[in-house]
Amino acid sequence: MTKFLLSLHVLAAVLTVGPVTVAASMFPRFLRHALGSPGDGPALASLSTLHRICRVYAGIGVAVPLFGFATASSLGVLGSAWLIVSIVLTTAAAAVLALWILPAQETALAGVEERAEAVADSPLPRRLAMLTGVFNLLWATVTVLMIIRPGSTTGA
Ligand code: HEM
Repeated sequence: MTKFLLSLHVLAAVLTVGPVTVAASMFPRFLRHALGSPGDGPALASLSTLHRICRVYAGIGVAVPLFGFATASSLGVLGSAWLIVSIVLTTAAAAVLALWILPAQETALAGVEERAEAVADSPLPRRLAMLTGVFNLLWATVTVLMIIRPGSTTGA
């Protein structure tokens, strides 16, 4: 059962965090392009698709901690320090995505759609690139923690 839950946990991480990482990392570059060529329909469509990928896969990504907690309770490691640190970092990554990245993408998208001057002059692309970097660093750290499990005596 533990192996089944762990497989679902890792599968969910690969299938959801992967697409969000790629789409969120591409968004600032596509935003710069869309801002540089107002009225470019395909550029707006690409930007909108990247945002949709981030939003939809972030939603499905809730499965990662759900299966993570199920795996942890099945293994009896819920009190382990490496797991608690991972939970805190996963929560921080989710907060950066839900509270900053997705709303900033929405603001940028609305601005490009309305050809708003405020967005054209704003530091949004740089801010989004920075936030996405923080998000990527957080979940990459969690992945390393999940594999190394410092202090764990339950496996290699
Ligand atoms: C609340 C958040 C999370 C919890 C409670 C959790 C829990 C766990 C547990 C209990 C294991 C099994 C460790 C073992 O075999 O002893 C595991 C493995 C793993 N987790 Fe998580 N996890 C969480 C978030 C994440 C995230 C955000 C990622 C990646 C984006 C991730 C990627 C992995 C990977 C790749 C493994 C396999 C490691 C290995 O077997 O070598 N986890 N997780």
